[in-house]
Amino acid sequence: MRGKFITIEGQDGAGKTTNVDVIKRCLETANIDYVHSREPGGTKLGETVRELILNSSDASIGDTAELLLMFAARAQHIEELIEPALSKGQWVLCDRFTDATYAYQGGGRRMPIGDIQLLENYVQASLRPDLTVLLDLPVDVGETRAGSRSDPDRFEQQKHEFKHRVRECYLDRARAEPSRISVIDASKGIGEVEASVARLIKRFIANG
Ligand code: TMP
Repeated sequence: MRGKFITIEGQDGAGKTTNVDVIKRCLETANIDYVHSREPGGTKLGETVRELILNSSDASIGDTAELLLMFAARAQHIEELIEPALSKGQWVLCDRFTDATYAYQGGGRRMPIGDIQLLENYVQASLRPDLTVLLDLPVDVGETRAGSRSDPDRFEQQKHEFKHRVRECYLDRARAEPSRISVIDASKGIGEVEASVARLIKRFIANG
C-alpha cells in the first residue's frame, strides 16, 4: 500500500523543530516505517539550493529565480526521495513543502499565485500532502522566538509586513482546504502545542 505524505508548516519561530520530533515519536510508536526530510533540501541538489537561497549574502537572487529554484529542488526531491518512498509504502514526513511556496513566494514576495499553481501542477502532477500540520501564531510572537537566533536567514530578515502576508496566506490556504490542513495554535505553551499535534497525528494514523 502507498505510504502517506505528511507535511509541517508555519512561520519562522512557530516551533516546527520540536513538533517534528513529536510526529516522529507518534509514527515510531505506531510502528510506521517513514522517512523524514525537509524543503528546500532533502537531496544533494536540494541542500545546495537551500544553502544558496537561505544563506547567500548575494542579495541579487531575483524573485522569479527564487521561485524556480524552490521548484527545481522540489522536482529532484520528489523524483529521488518522496515518490520512491511513498511507492514502497513508507510514509514521508516533510518539514515544509509547496504550501510554503504559496506563503513565502506568493504571500510574502507577491509572486502571482497562478504561476505557482502552474509550477505545482507541472512539477508534482497529482502529488499533494495527505495531511499538513500548520503551526500558527501571531507574527510578533514568532519574531520574538526566532529573534534569539544569532544568524537569521534571508526570510527571517524580512520585514514585519512580509511575515504578516506569509501568515495570512497560510491561513487562507487552511480555510480553503480544511480537510488537509489542520491549524494548531502555536502561541500556547509548548506542552499544550505538542499534545495537540500528537492528538492530530494519532487520529490521522487511526483513520488509516
Ligand atoms: P526552515 O526550514 O528552517 O524553516 O527554513 C526554510 C525557509 O525557506 C523558511 O524561511 C521558508 C523558506 N521557504 C520558502 O520561501 N519557499 C519554499 O517553498 C520553502 C519550502 C521554504
